[in-house]
Amino acid sequence: MTSALTAEIRAEIERQRDRYPQARSAVIPALWAVQNAVGHLSPAGMVEVAMLLHLEPSEVEAVATFYSMYFDKPAGRHHVLVCANVSCALRGADDIVAHLEQSLGCPSGETSDDSEFTWERTVECLGACGGAPAMQVDHHSEENLTPERVDAILDALRGAPAEYGAPPAEKTARDAAANAPRATPAATRPASKSSPRRGRPRPRSGDL
Ligand code: FES
Repeated sequence: MTSALTAEIRAEIERQRDRYPQARSAVIPALWAVQNAVGHLSPAGMVEVAMLLHLEPSEVEAVATFYSMYFDKPAGRHHVLVCANVSCALRGADDIVAHLEQSLGCPSGETSDDSEFTWERTVECLGACGGAPAMQVDHHSEENLTPERVDAILDALRGAPAEYGAPPAEKTARDAAANAPRATPAATRPASKSSPRRGRPRPRSGDL
């Protein structure tokens, strides 16, 4: 049988599977491994995940379709989630949403014509209320948004490789370390514009 997944993806799924007492516990990181490498979850890819985790395909599909962060069709190279929950709404999220829709030329849930961005307005709090309005780009927080900052962020990503390569949990741990408070005295610390891109190495494609 021809495999829908590369040997590297299969190895990553097996590595995730072997971290848990029960193989089914690895279903979310296994799906991330597929989506991070391929860009979306195909039916054949989900069947293969099920085989590797000793599950029924329907069990894997149930997880994949429950969470909105998984794509069931090819998506843009970069993924943008804009928060429209209370804190962000009070700080102008609607303007950010309208600006994104205009500058990317497509409504929420769709992909820009150049296939660079798939974006989505979400009412799920992204956990960055202190920097509202906020969005997530390839799993990284961007905060204190203005239309100009949104344009700058998107322009910097156009043509750049997608930042795939590790399940979000591992990425989040790296972000936390990269963004840990520095020893700079509070009085001289510059006002933060955004959490996290500072000091982070830019994406490498093909890393799993
Ligand atoms: S309400 Fe937008 S990040 Fe919490």
